[in-house]
Amino acid sequence: MTLKKLLQKLQTIKEDETFELKGWLISNRGNEKIRFLTINDGSTVSNLQVVAKGEIIQKNNLSSLTLGTSLVVNGKIHLTPNAPQPLELILEDISLINNVDEDYPIQKKETTLDFLREIPHLRSRTNLFRSIMLIRNSLAFEIHKYFQEHDFLYMASPIITSNDGEGAGETLLVDDETKDYFFKQKAFLGVTGQLHAEAYAATFKNVYTFGPTFRAENSHTSRHLAEFWMVEPEVAFYELKDIIKLADDLLKTVINNTIKNYPDEMKFLNSINPNLLDTLNKFLENKLTVIEYKDVVKKLMEFRDSFEEKNIHFGMDLASEHEKFLSEKIVQGPVAVINYPKDIKAFYMYQNDDYQTVAAFDLLVPGIGELIGGSQRESRYHKLVHRMNELNISKEPLDWYLDLRRFGYAPSSGFGIGFERLVMYVTGVSNIRDVIPFPRVAGQIKM
Ligand code: 4AD
Ligand code: MG
Repeated sequence: MTLKKLLQKLQTIKEDETFELKGWLISNRGNEKIRFLTINDGSTVSNLQVVAKGEIIQKNNLSSLTLGTSLVVNGKIHLTPNAPQPLELILEDISLINNVDEDYPIQKKETTLDFLREIPHLRSRTNLFRSIMLIRNSLAFEIHKYFQEHDFLYMASPIITSNDGEGAGETLLVDDETKDYFFKQKAFLGVTGQLHAEAYAATFKNVYTFGPTFRAENSHTSRHLAEFWMVEPEVAFYELKDIIKLADDLLKTVINNTIKNYPDEMKFLNSINPNLLDTLNKFLENKLTVIEYKDVVKKLMEFRDSFEEKNIHFGMDLASEHEKFLSEKIVQGPVAVINYPKDIKAFYMYQNDDYQTVAAFDLLVPGIGELIGGSQRESRYHKLVHRMNELNISKEPLDWYLDLRRFGYAPSSGFGIGFERLVMYVTGVSNIRDVIPFPRVAGQIKM
């Protein structure tokens, strides 16, 4: 049984029940008569306190054990309702599996995130990274659970593709005539699973992808990775307002369940970032604000002096500083901005009757900016072709995509959640490199 399971069934545990734990030593204090070992098994950020008394200490040379040692402990549970931890284990038997070389870089003393980024294979052994990765795992599980419970088909969009699905030219090349030409044509790593998801939405109505996504982002920011994970639902017969409602409900459900199921990790993260739980709870309790792009521009104009980019006008792409200001200062919470000018958005979005805007939305959150990007898709064949021509997007590789509009197309809508940005939002971590096990960014690929 894991330590998490043990702590979850606390109410039914009896004094003197036997328990075995396999894990790693976190701390070791005391003397030759009594020692307190704390052990973590990776199932929770909480540790098990193990109390050793008498001859077991010298027999196993417990005083010499150092942080990181792998071991198996057996003993009897002692309930401690008045202590900081609800129970401890009275040690009866211990097997030392392996000790730790002297230069082990993870020590009790504080280390910096920068230092830990240099050792991605070891940093998960800190309380911070244990918490982040357990929350990441929970969010992934809850997302699948939500979709499965709402009758969505989980589908695999291809990772290697012949399409630049966003038409933004940020693709990482897999193959072309300059390489080995394995595919005998140009091939990229996918920048989105959306286009393929649209094909499946035309059969299964509700579908989603959840997979690795690749972008040749040259911006060195705390919010961009070259390899990240995206969650992309696509729903036939849905319009913009329907898909925004889905995004809001999905987010609130997965965040709520994660807070409920991982109280110790959330408490730990809240101790580092004291506004975290308040901010998340405020989001859960409130209705999502929806605001037109044109009204955002008017609002931002009033605060022009707060920005580095002061040229605020209709048609501009909102910079990260504007997105953050809107969600942090004006709305003070998550906000969905809708109906963006078509010239700053992708070719496949539904063109509104005003000839200027498309039925798109971005969901912006405090501390991060854009968490979700989505839209209603252009359903009219000729409008789509016209827009692709305007943008000089070559039609041949996307013939199949255009076909969808000719064969019983039911208008569809969808969005993409940057999964790492969601993990940042829920953990309060400010650099995206710290919410994925092995980050990849331009100019750097460790391991
Ligand atoms: O806004 P984006 O580019 O939208 C799409 O790709 C659509 N095809 C989604 C859809 O409608 N199915 O990307 C979606 C989200 C962004 O809001 C952001 O959270 C995240 O993906 N994202 C990144 N996350 C980390 N690193 C990057 N380089 C990212 N680029 C986008
Ligand atoms: Mg976007």
